[in-house]
Amino acid sequence: MVDVLLGLQWGDEGKGKIVDYFAKDYDLVARFQGGPNAGHTLYVGDTKVVLHQIPSGVFHPGKLNLIGNGVVLDPVTLKRECDTVASFGVDLRQNLFISERTHLILPTHRALDKASEGSKGLQKIGSTLKGIGPAYMDKTGRNGIRVGDILDKNFTTTYIKLRLKHQKLLDNYGFNEDISAWEEEFFEGLEFLRQLNIVNGEYFINEQISKGKKILAEGAQGSMLDIDFGTFPFVTSSNTISAGVCSGLGIAPQHIKDVFGVTKAYCTRVGGGPFPTELENETGEELRKTGNEFGATTGRPRRCGWIDLVALKFACMVNGVTKIVMTKADVLDAFKELEVCTSYKIGGKETDQIPFRLDKSPIEPVYRKFPGWNTPSVSAKTEADLPETMKTYVAFINDYLGVKVHYISNGPGRDQLISVG
Ligand code: GDP
Ligand code: IMO
Ligand code: MG
Repeated sequence: MVDVLLGLQWGDEGKGKIVDYFAKDYDLVARFQGGPNAGHTLYVGDTKVVLHQIPSGVFHPGKLNLIGNGVVLDPVTLKRECDTVASFGVDLRQNLFISERTHLILPTHRALDKASEGSKGLQKIGSTLKGIGPAYMDKTGRNGIRVGDILDKNFTTTYIKLRLKHQKLLDNYGFNEDISAWEEEFFEGLEFLRQLNIVNGEYFINEQISKGKKILAEGAQGSMLDIDFGTFPFVTSSNTISAGVCSGLGIAPQHIKDVFGVTKAYCTRVGGGPFPTELENETGEELRKTGNEFGATTGRPRRCGWIDLVALKFACMVNGVTKIVMTKADVLDAFKELEVCTSYKIGGKETDQIPFRLDKSPIEPVYRKFPGWNTPSVSAKTEADLPETMKTYVAFINDYLGVKVHYISNGPGRDQLISVG
């Protein structure tokens, strides 16, 4: 049986914390897409850890973790991350498995990302510059190199061939930075990767399913960054929605049971692209300050705004969300009044559907106002401890979406999660 946990907004919804909390109830946690563009924050005791490529179940002894074929993997970040994780006493030889079909991010992919973004000027995506787009382009262009290839004796020739191809593209961009230090790290990373458990991911995970093991598929980014259904072209390069689980791990759809969708009690976005409910004012600043909204991967300030139910309902639809997890409810503690976007006005017409392009015509969000709870919620332990005003806010969201909030997160800590409803 497979459950899925993924983000419903533009990423950074708090997936890492929730996966870490849920992991105790699963046997295996698997990443199915994305790469080191992800930054999933969790706490081991009082120590904050940000994971980029390793599944967020890794700190639970006895649980298995799989990096699936749908991921793009940078051996440099992986080595660094494994060192961090190992410093907590985690034995990665025992509990981390990597699919041989996972595509590699090469140093030249990172260079191409930088060159491509640099050439776009104001239209740039705001990429994390981790080489994600170019690596997925080589996958779909049938040029990429996969983890299994590094065990082949002809690997160096394959690498040089692709590197030369990339060099031509870089020359076209006029990119002339010296990336030899990146390459050195890359080969060190590969040496390290060869020592890890490289497996046939699809047999590995299907054997676990046959044995009756419980699997949690951990999404990266968010549904509005999905390559097909996000705010294209301001998206990432993978299918972040639940459909990506099947192709990103090699499992059949009938194995999927619950789809947990994670949303903040408000909304953020990092990087470029449309964000209808963005607040470029003091309220937005307050959300950023109180929510400590700075990127876990790049440190960039996140753009902040009110919760957008039009986008959330769309995300629930394309993912088949069965249960919602609402995070960062405590960040709204000090607000006297809250707003919830219930429709968009585009060219004078009101709609509750996501248009083909959100960035082509000005969107005026239509809001419904709610009183804030204006009281601290961080110490609440049970549903009964939560303010009535928060319950009213959540009840409205439940009704609008037709899917219920099952958990409310009221702080970054492992134990700050309340089961509701
Ligand atoms: P992810 O990419 O979805 O895993 O989210 P990030 O880790 O990038 O960003 C979420 C941030 O919010 C992290 O700093 C978390 O520690 C923090 N966080 C998660 N849940 C809560 C919550 O309920 N309340 C508060 N205040 N912070 C939270
Ligand atoms: P997690 O898993 C938030 C954004 C980037 C940029 C766009 C494309 O932590 O939620 P890319 O590096 O994929 O070429 O960037 O997507 N982005 C994220 N935003 N959280 C993430 O991951 C993100 N991963 C990519 O800021 O706008
Ligand atoms: Mg993040």
